[in-house]
Amino acid sequence: MTKLPITRRSIVLWVAATLPVTLSAKVEFKSEILPILETKCLKCHSAPHEEAGKLVKPKAELRLDAAWAILKGGESKRPALVPKDVAKSYLYEVLTLPKDDDMFMPPKGDPVTADEMAKIKTWIEEGGDFGGWEGNVAGKPVDPAAAKVVQKEREHDVLYKALAEGLQPASTEALKKAKDAGAQVSPLMVNSPLLRVDFLTGVSRCDDASIQNLLVLKENVVHLDLARTAVTDAGLKAVVQFPRLTRLDLRKTKVTDKGVEQLSALKHLTYVNLYGTEVTDASLATLAGIKTLRNIYLWETKATDAGVAKLKAALPQAEIVHNVVIAAPEGAAQEDNQGKRKKNNK
Ligand code: HEC
Repeated sequence: MTKLPITRRSIVLWVAATLPVTLSAKVEFKSEILPILETKCLKCHSAPHEEAGKLVKPKAELRLDAAWAILKGGESKRPALVPKDVAKSYLYEVLTLPKDDDMFMPPKGDPVTADEMAKIKTWIEEGGDFGGWEGNVAGKPVDPAAAKVVQKEREHDVLYKALAEGLQPASTEALKKAKDAGAQVSPLMVNSPLLRVDFLTGVSRCDDASIQNLLVLKENVVHLDLARTAVTDAGLKAVVQFPRLTRLDLRKTKVTDKGVEQLSALKHLTYVNLYGTEVTDASLATLAGIKTLRNIYLWETKATDAGVAKLKAALPQAEIVHNVVIAAPEGAAQEDNQGKRKKNNK
């Protein structure tokens, strides 16, 4: 008689081999839950559609044909699904009600079987994961933040397309002259005659004279980064001769209100960065007149809250960065917080 070699080791191996299978067997939405919804719910809970010439709307405004809609819920404003919370998931609750309850689902046709209910319950407990299934995205509300980004990109495309129209690319000599003056020049986009310029390889060597040398490129430059350079108000006299300039970075330069005053000549300026300059509310009054502006940086300037409030009112579409609150580590909190803490400790 042969003895089966059941050792401790073989038992351990057997357990190890079976465990992962049982643990990972999660209920899959698309193959196990969606078919239940399709046969028992979607007839009454789908996106508005036509049937025999009549418009059929989802009952109780509830759509179960899309992941976003299931999470949103219907007229009760209760989500049909709250992942991991069976008690709060309305789509499960309605299955468990007494058959004569008005809310028992489905009100007509084959009821959901005990087996199907168990599957739905487990699926919710396991996290209500749709596994990439989105369903019918028609009618899905647009995320306002995402919509804003799309809108911005569209505005951006339209603007640069208009600025590039009929424009000749900069000549090789002009590009060479600008580079000799210390500028780094690159195309804004592939195949675009529009250029961006900075002096990042030698900010201290860039002064008002360097900007004069850049004038050979004035038709083509849209982005000009003069951050931390030695440019002054005098240099801005040259800068305002760039007719297509949309973005001007003057952070940490010596420019003052007198220089900024000239910027109103720029007809396409959308971005201006004055962070760490000496500008005051007088500059804000100038900026308020540049209606194309969308991003304004005034952090660490002499601009006041009242001045910024006025600017905001004049340019409601602009994003203005004034007081940047940086989360301070414990112990380095802002003064008034410390004051409060001391009081609390008494
Ligand atoms: C024959 C049509 C029909 C079918 C099929 C149907 N429902 Fe409904 N459903 C309704 C009606 C009608 C209401 C509104 C009942 C009321 O308010 O009295 C409703 C309401 C609901 C609500 C409440 C929505 C809210 O926010 O008020 C849920 C949840 C729901 N149904 C889930 C389901 C589920 C899950 C299924 C499938 C198992 C299903 N229904 C199948 C007709 C249907």
